Amino acid sequence: MENNNKEVLLKVDHLCQYFGFNKAVDDVSFEVHKGEVFGLVGESGCGKTTTGRTIIRLYNPTSGSVYFKGQRVAAGTMSYKKAIGEAEASIKALKKELKGADDGQRKDEILKEIEAKKEFIKEQKHEIKSALHDQKHCDKDLITKIQMIFQDPIASLDPRMTVRDIIAEGLVINGMKDKKEIDEKVYKMLELVGLVKEHASRYPHEFSGGQKQRIGVARAVIMEPELIIADEPVSALDVSIQAQVINLLNDLREELGLTLLFIAHDLSVVKYFSDRIGVMYYGKLVELADADELFKNPLHPYTKSLLSAIPLPDPAYEKQRQRIVYNPLASHDYSQEGPTLKEIKPGHFVYCNSAEFEQYSKELK
Ligand SMILES: Nc1ncnc2c1ncn2[C@@H]1O[C@H](COP(=O)(O)OP(=O)(O)OP(=O)(O)O)[C@@H](O)[C@H]1O
Ligand SMILES: [Mg+2]
Repeated sequence: MENNNKEVLLKVDHLCQYFGFNKAVDDVSFEVHKGEVFGLVGESGCGKTTTGRTIIRLYNPTSGSVYFKGQRVAAGTMSYKKAIGEAEASIKALKKELKGADDGQRKDEILKEIEAKKEFIKEQKHEIKSALHDQKHCDKDLITKIQMIFQDPIASLDPRMTVRDIIAEGLVINGMKDKKEIDEKVYKMLELVGLVKEHASRYPHEFSGGQKQRIGVARAVIMEPELIIADEPVSALDVSIQAQVINLLNDLREELGLTLLFIAHDLSVVKYFSDRIGVMYYGKLVELADADELFKNPLHPYTKSLLSAIPLPDPAYEKQRQRIVYNPLASHDYSQEGPTLKEIKPGHFVYCNSAEFEQYSKELK
């Protein structure tokens, strides 16, 4: 799974998605390179699906941006609004100070500071305008090049629609009308995902879980996407079927030159399948590295706990395997300095403060 092509297909930049007080995605940044499989991993509720849904614009981001092929396709405004609020508050304080100041030099300084703050507010307002513009006028054709395979194959397929209509829905929405052309495309997709033409006229309930997920794959692939966000595409399936669907995605990736953002809640599924892996914990990206590097040098205690949960088919290992439980309060002291995502080794990022950075650097193999 060597991938020397570092063309950035997707860039997620300081993305936040808040649902009221729930910071489902909180300042997450990562890039997905063309042709790679990027695994996004973390326990239930950590914000993986929300990240995916925000990328395909099912929600407008609270703040931060999403770029696809260099173009901004989603943007939020909260960070700019917050910055404006802070600048306004400091202008207010400066004005108050101005009133009490009797030293001419200090007065000049204050006036200059106020001017600079006003200029800053102007810039931030411009950013808001530009974000709202990009949000509204994003290129619809470009956006169809990102498709999502949804987490729950049963809930995501409309039971009243035939398989043909489900798979063709995106094409029809995009304006395709020729019934024969649509049929041909649907048949081709069914074949591509290992189903048959005759399945087109049937309804979702007539299919097994694995077959349903194949329909979900067909529905995404028919749009000729460049990026597929596969949201836990196999976790609802029997273990024996999981490998089939993974192999299907892998074949398609090679055949169609796809890039995959592959979401999973544990590392065992993404281990052999991902070029790079991002680990999420409660809305934050806590570690990001090449897959091999992450397994060799897990640094964040949460990554370590995820690794310790992977069973191996080795009875001796299994006997002594200790599950590490991640306890954030016991693992970190952020009373003096808070954490940020830091690059500890080229391409290997970990969410930590300076003291932890030092400590993790020593741990590196
Ligand atoms: N539409 C929504 N409105 C309000 N809260 C939401 C919404 N969608 C998700 N959440 C909340 O955001 C957080 C992240 O949810 P999300 O579905 O992204 O997690 P996940 O990592 O995909 O979990 P899972 O592995 O269970 O699928 C959760 O606390 C969830 O309750
Ligand atoms: Mg999810």
